[in-house]
Amino acid sequence: MRTEQPKTIYLKDYQVPEYLIDETSLTFELYEDHSLVHAQLVMRRNPEAGPGLPLLVLNGQNMELLSLRLDDRDLTAADYLLSPSELTVQPDSASFTLDSTVRIHPETNTALEGLYKSGTMFCTQCEAEGFRKITYYLDRPDVMSSFTTTVSADKQRYPVLLSNGNPIASGDGDNGRHWATWQDPFKKPAYLFALVAGDLWCVEDTFTTMSAREVALRIYVEPENIDKCQHAMDSLKKSMRWDEEVYGREYDLDIFMIVAVNDFNMGAMENKGLNIFNSSAVLAKAETATDAAHQRIEGILAHEYFHNWSGNRVTCRDWFQLSLKEGFTVFRDAEFSADMNSRTVKRIEDVAYLRTHQFAEDAGPMAHPVRPDSYMEISNFYTLTVYEKGAEVLRMIHTLLGAEAFRKGSDLYFERHDGQAVTCDDFIKAMEDASGVDLTQFKRWYSQAGTPRLDVREAYDAAAQTYTLTFKQSCPATPGQPEKQPFVIPVELGLLNAQGVELPLRLQGEAEALGTSRVLSLTEAEQSFTFVDIAEQPLPSLLRGFSAPVKLSFPYSRDQLMFLMQHDSDGFNRWEAGQQLAVQILQELIAQHQAGKALELDQRLIAALRTVLENDQLDQAMVAEMLSLPGEAYLAEISEVADVEAIHAAREFARKQIAAELFEPLWARYQENRAISRERAYVAEAAEFARRALQNIALSYLMESGKDEVLAACLEQFEQTDNMTERLHAMAVLVNSPFEAEKAASLAKFAEHFKDNPLVMDQWFSVQAGSPLPGGLARVQQLMQHPAFNLKNPNKVRALIGAFANQNLINFHAADGSGYRFLADQVIALDGFNPQIAARQLAPLTRWRKYDATRQALIQGELKRILASGELSADVYEVVSKSLN
Ligand code: PHE
Ligand code: ZN
Repeated sequence: MRTEQPKTIYLKDYQVPEYLIDETSLTFELYEDHSLVHAQLVMRRNPEAGPGLPLLVLNGQNMELLSLRLDDRDLTAADYLLSPSELTVQPDSASFTLDSTVRIHPETNTALEGLYKSGTMFCTQCEAEGFRKITYYLDRPDVMSSFTTTVSADKQRYPVLLSNGNPIASGDGDNGRHWATWQDPFKKPAYLFALVAGDLWCVEDTFTTMSAREVALRIYVEPENIDKCQHAMDSLKKSMRWDEEVYGREYDLDIFMIVAVNDFNMGAMENKGLNIFNSSAVLAKAETATDAAHQRIEGILAHEYFHNWSGNRVTCRDWFQLSLKEGFTVFRDAEFSADMNSRTVKRIEDVAYLRTHQFAEDAGPMAHPVRPDSYMEISNFYTLTVYEKGAEVLRMIHTLLGAEAFRKGSDLYFERHDGQAVTCDDFIKAMEDASGVDLTQFKRWYSQAGTPRLDVREAYDAAAQTYTLTFKQSCPATPGQPEKQPFVIPVELGLLNAQGVELPLRLQGEAEALGTSRVLSLTEAEQSFTFVDIAEQPLPSLLRGFSAPVKLSFPYSRDQLMFLMQHDSDGFNRWEAGQQLAVQILQELIAQHQAGKALELDQRLIAALRTVLENDQLDQAMVAEMLSLPGEAYLAEISEVADVEAIHAAREFARKQIAAELFEPLWARYQENRAISRERAYVAEAAEFARRALQNIALSYLMESGKDEVLAACLEQFEQTDNMTERLHAMAVLVNSPFEAEKAASLAKFAEHFKDNPLVMDQWFSVQAGSPLPGGLARVQQLMQHPAFNLKNPNKVRALIGAFANQNLINFHAADGSGYRFLADQVIALDGFNPQIAARQLAPLTRWRKYDATRQALIQGELKRILASGELSADVYEVVSKSLN
């Protein structure tokens, strides 16, 4: 058991730094068995911190201090204090220069934080607190410095040497070595530092900015991937243009570089001028990456690029403010993707994801506000709440202020705080000052955790021709927050008459109607709104576009939902009505299963889906979304006690029924689209994504029929295609089918063909790890022995272990607890070399309160076993100990 508890850090304890660093000059000497880092820091007392010269406490971990100099005085061990995480020195004047040399070991750094090796390449990851593993420093985001970096390495092995900013000098050294110096003129915190050295090729392009400056764009990859960069480059250029047009933001350096690395804990990182990307977030071509991967890459490229303003030019004062840059940047990238593809479909995908995963986080032991009050390990707070809910908070501000005032607010924010490290309050203040809107109460979204519930009731008064909606909001207790104050909740709504026509909306007391769709801003625990001139009982369309991240409930009948599905002018709510209809019907099947009754499907679901399938006016991506039943994880999230067996049985039963009853229209839609796919070369664009999405979902239903002609079609799609979207889906459908021989053959063929492409093998692992057929755990354990699997590579861990624990509920939650035991074993193993990845894999075990008493006890047993397994990282300790509370 851990002897020393990690310390909890509180937002309320924030203090300005005692010292500042104006200039940072670094020299890296990279070798195979160690590296040397020389740092020269031009420092001064922070005038805002008060008088006197307190001790200077620098962060530093896992390094060997070789020399230390204060101005022109060499310091000896008697002059400083060294602990495993800090170096303390007494300065003797208000301005001074500190020189240090340390030895570090990137070649054995398996945590992938600080300076490390991915394959043969050196790279860095410094956010949040990785820079302290590189040199002694004030490793906090409110210390901003200019950086000059020289990298020296063997020329043959590492022909490319990169760091932030512009290249200013380079040359050859002794013993086959060479060096390059980079200078970043923009002051930045250490978490945005980056360095890369490797044998890399690059794809080059240029971008002309709005003020006609030419920027060089480069994407660096390992030579074998040079053919997979075009999509990322196109996405980058679109992002640069979009940020100019929508936010007035121009790029500021002469060069923008991206490097793809295979071993990376997250998706990508926005280091100034030198973004480092997980190769899965860059590399794509038709043959190897699916449509979903193409869209994800476009979104991540935009996200990291947008950070140049929302994160780099204006950064965070401290890590409690993480959502200042992340929530805002996710909102920005979501709007970008909505503009590039189908807006409604993007919103549907994001909402489904938020409701399944962020709502679960909000309901669990790690629940925290968008701006947390405390943490033990900041790496644990790169969460769905900070990112996705944070983006919802920004979206609500956008909704409440309107696009124009929001833009004024963002302009003011960037102008006022350029070059500063600021807080969420500073952001809100800029929005308030620019718009005149008071956001005091709104700020509760930053400080209160938990998903609000919104219960809505209606009352129609035929005599008075008035229609009243009453909204009651509440929010469940979360750790440390027993009571919640009312939120500001923007509810966009419309009212439909019996013909499906939208009524003009005039509230009591208003002179005239204000359109047929409008936003009501709720501020109280209970609040009513009365609409006048309502000639007949209307049907409300509520929370259009999911205008607030809440759980809304309104007593819709199934017939009313079917009506909304067809008539609502809001595309998101048409989908939402279909989902709610499916939820009601699936919950009925779940109850039948639990009662041991024969399952009987409400035929209205079939009728509704038939209408969707036969409507050739509808965007095909919408048809595909509407045909998708709510996922098992979502059904679990909305259950009081999640019965995974019943959920799985109910959903499978519904799928079979749909397949049987709608075989004809599904087959027609499939064949029509497959014929087009056969003729056309692959293009990564919205209309084609839509077409293939419908083709593929139709195929998965059709395979439920078990018919020979469908199997033949599936095999044909698997074999005869130029793209991964069709091939992978056909293989996934086979993997989940009872056709054992075809399944084995296609898996083997695929693996043989793609064995040298790790990103494609990740997909091969995931498809198998996610298969709900019996024996899931054994398959996963066997796959861990496959030569392409490697526990040290985070993408592999996510593809196999993550996919099993998160996307295969029926197997993971096996009643004997074997899935839990397996995951706990993996977490313990991972924690030995990569704590961040270990802690992330714990998420499904933190949700134990959702399950029955037996499973609860099994999961708690595994959490306790992890706690007792030895010295744990702060990362894993924090998640496990909070989960057991
Ligand atoms: N800041 C990165 C992003 O949002 C995420 C990240 C965090 C990457 C921590 C690495 C480490 O784009
Ligand atoms: Zn980000």
